[in-house]
Amino acid sequence: MSKIILLILPIMALMAEPSSYEQGKNLYFSKGCSGCHGVSASGTNQYPALAYRRKPFLMNKLKNYRLKLATTQQSQLMIPFAMGLSDKEIDALTTFFSEYHENKSNYKPDLGIRGDGGS
Ligand code: HEC
Repeated sequence: MSKIILLILPIMALMAEPSSYEQGKNLYFSKGCSGCHGVSASGTNQYPALAYRRKPFLMNKLKNYRLKLATTQQSQLMIPFAMGLSDKEIDALTTFFSEYHENKSNYKPDLGIRGDGGS
């Protein structure tokens, strides 16, 4: 009996509407953000870290990039990636960053099963 429950629980979890956090995680990979900011959103020498940062700050940044407001030469790199984002997607992405709690075994979402978060 307990084996059946163990099998059913993950299936139910996959069927439910993904949380804002999960949607943000899916977007982070499906929109190519991880290519620059890293699989763990911890940044590199050239690109800023996003994990554990404050949501309002990141949200503001993304909305400004979306308006094509580049403050530095570097920020021009961000504009094409922010341009296509909806308010809901920015909300989900910044929830993912500010509440970041991944570990090495689940850095990447299983996009094949969960889709791209409905975008
Ligand atoms: C081509 C590389 C590249 C990709 C892809 C990219 N970014 Fe960036 N991102 C940058 C760079 C460079 C900066 C720093 C720009 C600046 O100086 O304002 C930045 C800055 C940011 C910032 C502001 C962080 C800060 O400390 O100011 C956020 C938030 C952000 N990116 C989110 C995203 C999201 C979400 C995506 C995917 C939709 C994404 N980025 C894709 C290069 C990239």
